[in-house]
Amino acid sequence: MSNNKEAWGSRVGLILAMAGNAVGLGNFLRFPVQAIQNGGGAFIIPYLVCFLLMGIPLLYVEWSMGRFGGKNGHHSTPFILDSMDKRKFWKYIGVFGIFTNLAVAAYYCYLESWTLSWVWHSVTGSFSGQSQAQVASFFGNYISLETLEPIVFWIICLVLNTWILSKGLSGGVEKVAKVGMPLLILFGAILAFIAVTLKAGDHGAINDGTLGLNFLWTPDFSTIWSPKVWLAAAGQIFFTLSVGMGSIQCYASYVRSKDDIALNAMSAGWMNGFVEIVLGSAIIIPISVGYLGIDTVVEMTKNGGLGLGFKTLPYLFDQFGGALGVMCGVLWFGLLFFAGITSSLAMGTPCMGFMQDEFGWKREKAAWAFGFVVLLLGLPTVLFFNYGVFDEYDYWAGTVSLVVFALFEIILFAWVFGMDKGWKEITTGADIKVPIIFKYIIKFVTPLMLAWVFISSLPGIWSQIKNEAIDKQILAATDPAVIEQLQTQLLYVNISRVGLLLVWLGIAYLVYIAYKKRIKEGRFTS
Ligand code: PHE
Repeated sequence: MSNNKEAWGSRVGLILAMAGNAVGLGNFLRFPVQAIQNGGGAFIIPYLVCFLLMGIPLLYVEWSMGRFGGKNGHHSTPFILDSMDKRKFWKYIGVFGIFTNLAVAAYYCYLESWTLSWVWHSVTGSFSGQSQAQVASFFGNYISLETLEPIVFWIICLVLNTWILSKGLSGGVEKVAKVGMPLLILFGAILAFIAVTLKAGDHGAINDGTLGLNFLWTPDFSTIWSPKVWLAAAGQIFFTLSVGMGSIQCYASYVRSKDDIALNAMSAGWMNGFVEIVLGSAIIIPISVGYLGIDTVVEMTKNGGLGLGFKTLPYLFDQFGGALGVMCGVLWFGLLFFAGITSSLAMGTPCMGFMQDEFGWKREKAAWAFGFVVLLLGLPTVLFFNYGVFDEYDYWAGTVSLVVFALFEIILFAWVFGMDKGWKEITTGADIKVPIIFKYIIKFVTPLMLAWVFISSLPGIWSQIKNEAIDKQILAATDPAVIEQLQTQLLYVNISRVGLLLVWLGIAYLVYIAYKKRIKEGRFTS
């Protein structure tokens, strides 16, 4: 029935693809901003604790679940979860592992297309000689779709992703990762060197590049009890490692059943950590703090990191002057592009795996179907960016959904499937000795932490549902035009929520049909 004969070509390819999955725009744009917004040095301890007690355990769990599912020909979370327990509802929990990928891809690919466009504009000199305000308004005009250019770059980006996916894992994804990841690290290293060695007085900088770095890396114990900082750190660990998504399980399901996953998981996870902690913190923060000072940068990132990456950095690179400025622009946006595409490819594979396994689709058909759905789902984020649709997707799919899914899956793995069996899955074929303490961390600590993250997020989720933030702005506004804009925003935000819900239900329906089909054909379910 299944047309799914995919396999990884080599171990290096697999690790680079997994690292590419994790290393994304989150490492370079989201991490620095989270760190700045949460007080710099105050952020780093919760971040590292969450990495060790939540991130690494979830990596072990997801890799081993994936390989386990793959043994029975399951390559997406609905039937991977289904195969781990006899209760019927797990496959619907698995819906999250397809839904999140689709919904994140829908806005992520738009962001990815900006990086392509900004490489182009760096080369053609669009930012050279411009004032800071001019570069900022270039960005503003872009997202307001003053020209058709954003749509063109977006479509190019979607077609590129789809085409690579249609070439399969070893023929497409792996090849891109093998070229993209080394280049990304090279570009990142060059930029980090330039940023960290920036000296006050050079090219108009007012501070040394090290000021920003010290701000981040001087641990601050005073905020260690602040739940806000812990939630932000946990959220960042989720997003950056791509755990709670369903994409790791999918990639791992193509690993042969006797092959190592323990060392592979650590290699990919620590490579992501290195890129985030070393390169992610050593470019955007040192340069922007070098020119603008800590307070201004904190202020500028209040509404997220996109402005810093796309408005401020091109302007600052231009201060370097001439060829160096152009080169930095190309390296920075080129690096972001590689980071982005190796992640968006990972978002495509779970949906494809599902259609191939359950409905016998060919890989090419599954790839183009994914591209088409992302086009439809992504269109509102492109057209109504200024009405908060993009952020709404990011909130529900890129933040909430991950935690919900991870909480369920760890309960399934550690308590239902059982930790003894689970531990065997993790350690079978392992090329390293996994410290036994992780058995207990996975069983007790990680679920408790996840439950804590989830419960502490509830008030925020409730406030989001009630649109409290927008309502407050409406109440505070006096200009009728602003009020009208906010009311339209409210409408778009509500519509996008309903849309996302329908997507979830649509996938659940497909899972239901697939299940009925399996029963009819007498195929294995748990
Ligand atoms: N981890 C990626 C990042 O840091 C985002 C991502 C999420 C990628 C889910 C794949 C799946 O940007």
